[in-house]
Amino acid sequence: MDKTHLVDEITGHRRMRRNRKADWTRRLVQESRLTVDDLIWPIFIVPGTGIVDPIAAMPGVSRMSVDKAVEAVKEAADLGIPAIATFPDIEMELRDVTGSQSLVADNLINQATAAIKKAVPNIGVITDVALDPFTSHGHDGILRDGVIVNDETVDQVVRAAIMQADAGADIIAPSEMMDGRIGAIRRGLDAAGHQDVGIMSYATKFSSGFYGPYRQAINTSGLLKGDKNTYYISPANGTEAVRDAALDVEEGADMLMVKPGIAYLDICWRLKEAFGLPTFAYQVSGEYTQIKAAAMNGWIDGERIMMETLLCFKRAGCDGILTYFAVDAARKLSKKQPGI
Ligand code: PBG
Repeated sequence: MDKTHLVDEITGHRRMRRNRKADWTRRLVQESRLTVDDLIWPIFIVPGTGIVDPIAAMPGVSRMSVDKAVEAVKEAADLGIPAIATFPDIEMELRDVTGSQSLVADNLINQATAAIKKAVPNIGVITDVALDPFTSHGHDGILRDGVIVNDETVDQVVRAAIMQADAGADIIAPSEMMDGRIGAIRRGLDAAGHQDVGIMSYATKFSSGFYGPYRQAINTSGLLKGDKNTYYISPANGTEAVRDAALDVEEGADMLMVKPGIAYLDICWRLKEAFGLPTFAYQVSGEYTQIKAAAMNGWIDGERIMMETLLCFKRAGCDGILTYFAVDAARKLSKKQPGI
């Protein structure tokens, strides 16, 4: 009996489904893998003690006082998470046009670093050095006559970076996108004896709507007038992003970051291909919130999409991901469920 189907004539001996037919073969051919070593956990710090204050726009994420942050970071370290990234939500009275709090040696962010490094020395602490948590206008730099002034901001950022390193930060991550900042920070750190403190450049930070919930978390959304288009990259421009990253590499960046994440996977791939540096993506607040909100409505399987998106960053060439899901993902990975 002739069992030839039309599909046999088309596929011949080529049948992609053979490698997908069972869990064991799918595991065998899996190209990308997510492990706990890929996760960096961003956390929000507030003044005071004993505070765990839920952020409305980021269900499951809270602002924590330093003591509570230390407890949470201990748990993260126990789960095997290699590093955290800290962001402060400081008192409004302390914010001013130049972000002068960034130059106070024991400001909130530096207090957090010192306490975390003392209690949990083996976790890496990454600190952002942009001025937005400290300015009264919510911009990342110094505002003069309606302009975010580049060189003056860089001078201040360098001084703040040295103080962050003095407090124990392992990696300085400048996110304010000023020109020349990576070289200036490198020289400043070296001159201050911090040769071993690394720089993770927010090399390609796009001017994005995905940052909305973060701005609520650190209370800058009510302050910010206008947008950040004069210093962040347009979402339309991939080649410009690669050129900007090339300057950061030349100036001495140890690691690169792409931000936001999932809508910018092409940039992750291009940077990894072009420079071969350790490359990270930041799955930002709006990405987190979209997944959480839809899951809370029962419209998607939140855990599944959490793991899928994180795996996709790996497929796109990322060495790791900054993600508010870090602890949840680490817990899930520790259960070693097959499939992802
Ligand atoms: C600014 C900064 C931003 C984020 C971290 N630092 C962007 C912004 O507010 O413009 C966003 C992080 C997130 O959305 O999760 N230096």
